[in-house]
Amino acid sequence: MKYAKNILETIGNTPLVQLNTVTKEIDALVLAKVETFNPGNSIKDRMALKMIEDAEADGRLKPGGTIIEGTSGNTGMGLALAAIIKGYKCIFVISDKQSKEKMDILRAVGAEVIVCPTNVEPSDPRSYYSVSKRLGAETPNSWYVNQYDNPSNALAHYEQTGPEIWEQTEGKITHFVVGVGTGGTISGTAKYLKEKNPNIKIWGIDTYGSVFKKYHETGIFDENEIYPYITEGIGEDILPKNVDFSLIDGFTKVTDKDAAVYTRKIAKEEGIFVGNSAGSAIKGMLQLKEHFTKDDVVVVLFHDHGSRYVGKMFNDDWMRERGFLEEEIKTAADLIKNHSDEPLVAAQTEELVSHAIERMRDYKISQIPVKDINGFVGSIDESVLLHSFIADKNIADKPIKDIMGKPYPVVKKSAKLEEISKLITKENQAVLVDLENGNHHIITKYDIISAI
Ligand SMILES: Cc1ncc(COP(=O)(O)O)c(C=O)c1O
Repeated sequence: MKYAKNILETIGNTPLVQLNTVTKEIDALVLAKVETFNPGNSIKDRMALKMIEDAEADGRLKPGGTIIEGTSGNTGMGLALAAIIKGYKCIFVISDKQSKEKMDILRAVGAEVIVCPTNVEPSDPRSYYSVSKRLGAETPNSWYVNQYDNPSNALAHYEQTGPEIWEQTEGKITHFVVGVGTGGTISGTAKYLKEKNPNIKIWGIDTYGSVFKKYHETGIFDENEIYPYITEGIGEDILPKNVDFSLIDGFTKVTDKDAAVYTRKIAKEEGIFVGNSAGSAIKGMLQLKEHFTKDDVVVVLFHDHGSRYVGKMFNDDWMRERGFLEEEIKTAADLIKNHSDEPLVAAQTEELVSHAIERMRDYKISQIPVKDINGFVGSIDESVLLHSFIADKNIADKPIKDIMGKPYPVVKKSAKLEEISKLITKENQAVLVDLENGNHHIITKYDIISAI
């Protein structure tokens, strides 16, 4: 009989699959190492098990212990699977940027999940780096994994991912292209491949908002490069010990939009349902296409499964809200189609200014049309409010009609984008669309900017 004694024995030996459509602009054989075939649906199963085994071997992890880690989900999944088989508890600290699916999946495999804010400095006590370190120090019989600096992370890829790719390509691989987060995948795999053939070129995929590319090119850790981004799994605002920059030939940065668009393309064009960093890797590879020639064998690695992104990159509304969907927006009807069923927030001339302010705050809007029984007769926006307040500190208790500005122009649903753009000026922040059913909807300057 041929069977695995437990799920951990099924980790590794993932397939290498030729890409035929999404990379057709590239004049080389392009092969994807599809890591979703691991039992936790990501490459991270490999390093998670390796980190646990090494910690067991040298006594850092003791029987019945608690495994603590700051993880964006995939490492957590790998650790949780191994913990189930080996009898450990898991506490994972995750940033609020990560998809809800990832958090639910970790809870499904028995882990406790603690969510921390993304937009704080790594040194901030609320950051997920700090919280996981603190829990590691406070929890009895616990082991803080620290995948960023834990050498077993890269070692797993030196022992498994590298040799698998070498054997599957019969040593013909010429380039390896891969997203970089902790650096374990790129450094471990690169070390093995370069030992076999130093001419193999290693390309790291980075994201805007991360420090890797500039650091690799200049040796400067530039804090100006750090800002929040959407792409998941790659890029960092720290320099993990697992990134061995000496093994990497170059980095290319991919935008959030391109990463999302290409994640969808891989599913639609290749039938390979993989996660967001795979989209970054493919787009990055296309950006590097002049580096590849006809006889090259280029291997790209897909880290995780698409199911973890169904509420994000694979959701049209999520994509549209971020301006990531390539839709043609030509008319007023196109501009409002995602929110046309929401009621228009308006104010009455006789209401107090304080009411308008409250409504603007509740709905998080910057402008509001004003009505009387005859229809729209005025408008209030933040600059009207500010100027009125400077002139009269008691303005909140006055009726809206005393301070309101001109009414917003009304356009038909068929009005062209250019026509609407011309109506939006410094003095006029919005236009109203006549929905031809007695109702109106608003188009703001922000809607126009998002659309273009
Ligand atoms: C989806 C995804 N892609 C890419 C990476 C980057 O891999 P590595 O941490 O080995 O650099 C990760 C790691 O967290 C990941 O979860």
